[in-house]
Amino acid sequence: MLSLSLINRINKLLGTTANAGYVLLIYLSLILVSTARPIYPLPSKTSNGSRQPLQTSRPYNIAHRGSNGEIPEETAAAYMRAIEEGTDFIETDILSSKDGVLICFHDVTLDDTTDIAEHKEFTNLDFTLEELKTLRVKQRYAFRDQQYNGKFSIITFEEFISIALDAPRVVGIYPEMKNPVFINQHVKWPGGKRFEDKFVETLKKYGYTGSYMSKDWLKQPVFIQSFAPTSLVYASDLIDSPKIFLIDDVTIPTQDTNQSYWEITSDAYLDYIKDYVVGIGPWKDTVVPVVHPYTYRNEEMFLHFNFHQDPYEEYDYWINKIGVDGLFTDFTGSLHNFQEWTSPLSKNNIGDDSATKLLNKIASLVASYKN
Ligand SMILES: *[C@@H]1O[C@H](CO)[C@@H](O)[C@H](O)[C@H]1NC(C)=O
Repeated sequence: MLSLSLINRINKLLGTTANAGYVLLIYLSLILVSTARPIYPLPSKTSNGSRQPLQTSRPYNIAHRGSNGEIPEETAAAYMRAIEEGTDFIETDILSSKDGVLICFHDVTLDDTTDIAEHKEFTNLDFTLEELKTLRVKQRYAFRDQQYNGKFSIITFEEFISIALDAPRVVGIYPEMKNPVFINQHVKWPGGKRFEDKFVETLKKYGYTGSYMSKDWLKQPVFIQSFAPTSLVYASDLIDSPKIFLIDDVTIPTQDTNQSYWEITSDAYLDYIKDYVVGIGPWKDTVVPVVHPYTYRNEEMFLHFNFHQDPYEEYDYWINKIGVDGLFTDFTGSLHNFQEWTSPLSKNNIGDDSATKLLNKIASLVASYKN
């Protein structure tokens, strides 16, 4: 499915090369804080300028829903764990409560990742923030660690931002305007405001601004992502922060304009959308240029056989062969380890050894030790 001709066409249209585009590999990791208490004071302190800056010398490590390979997704604990493990960006999905408060949550329905089934008083999806806060989040996948189920609550967009701003170094945010059509149909804000207005207002309230790599952006990095092209075009009138157009599976039309995968990856469409976005986020199997592909995971069921089901081989392919600019991962720690081994930020560099060579070296060292 990966179409090299598509990559080449997009590169041409966007004026990039594969190396200049972004690719995000999504890795998810989880860590743990021992209680479910809300953790961070609001409003957040702003940078005093002395924090370690965002690294820009290697592909971004983007913590997909926090370190959710370890800790239930989109919780404060999952995001704090990702920060401890070395992530560059924390990624989240923004939805709205019934009363118009923006929250971090992936699904429109609540049952896959919360204990809603135990809360018999809830019979439908129309919940206020206060009601949502009584729920506890659980691990999405049965094959992952279940020990943190029931310990953490859903957090708001503002709480999420505070976690990034309170990090000991500059940590960017990567929020998605999730299901904007659905939300705008069901939630009405005063003054006829739309979901996109509330989303951008929240970013501005906390000082997010500036085009990609500008001084303001580097102080508080943000990428705005959406599968809905009209939301990105609308937001582009409100804020100059970089935007990423997400491209779904080839069988799924866009939720707002009902366009097919083939339409939105046509030359004419990419030529149009490139005025509004700096990058594209495709499935890792349909990769394109300014690209932050998703999602990278450690577990063998998610890994391709041609990488021998080894997540490090998969990272090596995307980082060193394709030249992505970032990776969304469920396992922040494994991507961070890989990058520290192969392109450490510290000066004790290992030269140009490719990751494969390095891993072979380690393997042979281990093998000779065993013998
Ligand atoms: C979306 O497009 C498909 C294919 O062209 C069409 O069959 C369908 O009716 C459209 N849906 C809506 C809601 O317009």
